[in-house]
Amino acid sequence: MTAAERVQVVDGPEELAEAAARAAVADLEAAVEAHGTATWVLTGGGTPGAAYRRLAAHDLRAGVEWDRVRVAMGDERCVPAGHPESNWGQAAAALLDHVPVPGHHLLRPQGELGAEAAADAYQAALAALPATPGGAPRLEVVWLGVGEDGHCLSLFPGRPELEVADRLVVPVHDSPKPPPDRISLTLAALAGTERLLVLAAGLGKADPVARARAGDDRLPLTRAVAAVRSAGGSVTWLLDRAAA
Ligand code: 6PG
Repeated sequence: MTAAERVQVVDGPEELAEAAARAAVADLEAAVEAHGTATWVLTGGGTPGAAYRRLAAHDLRAGVEWDRVRVAMGDERCVPAGHPESNWGQAAAALLDHVPVPGHHLLRPQGELGAEAAADAYQAALAALPATPGGAPRLEVVWLGVGEDGHCLSLFPGRPELEVADRLVVPVHDSPKPPPDRISLTLAALAGTERLLVLAAGLGKADPVARARAGDDRLPLTRAVAAVRSAGGSVTWLLDRAAA
C-alpha cells in the first residue's frame, strides 16, 4: 500500500506559512503519539521562515509537546555559528529560540567546523537517532524546499553527492548556490522518513515542482520524494498558486 500523497495549493506566501505551521503541529503531535518522541528535520532557505515564525506564535506553539521533539537541519552552510547565512541560525531566530525544545534535542549542524568535520559530526548525530528496521534514522517529519534547478537539501543536479548511498551526511564544495561549502543529508538519510512536506512558493518553482511531480529523475527532489515513498512515507506538496 503506498502511503498518502497530497497536494495542497494555497493563495500566497502568507497562506503557505499558515498551512505549513499547522501541518507541523499536526504531524509532530501524531509522531509523538506514535513513538513518544519526534525528530523534525527542518529545511533551510527562505521559504520556510514565515512558517517557522507563525509556529512560534502562542496559539500554534502551545499545540506541540516540544520536550518530546528533536530538531535537525537537512543541510547547513559552512559559516560561523550565528552567521546570517546559517540555516540553523535563521531557524533559531524564527522558531527554535522561542520554543522549549530541550538542549540535547537541538541537533545543530556544526558548519563552523568546515565541511568534512561537520559532515562527520552530523553523521554521528543522525546515526544515534532511533532507527527504522532498514537501519536509517527514523525521521518522523521532514521539510524540504526546492531550488529553481530542482535541488533539495544541498544535493544539486548531476553532482556526485546525489549518488552517495553509504553515508547519511556528506560534505559539499563548490555548491552552485552560495555559500559554496555545505553539509547535506543524503538521499539514503531519507529512507526512514515518515512524513515529508515539500514547500514551494513563487513562479520560479513551478517548473521544478511540475518536473519532480512528473518523475523527472534528473532532479534531486524527484529522487528525494521517491526515497520517502519507497520507505512507505507520506508526501505532501504544499504550494502557493504561483508554484502550483
Ligand atoms: C539551502 C536550502 C536549499 C533551499 C532551496 C530553496 O541551504 O539553501 O536548504 O535546499 O531549500 O534552495 O531555497 P528558497 O526557499 O530560498 O527558495
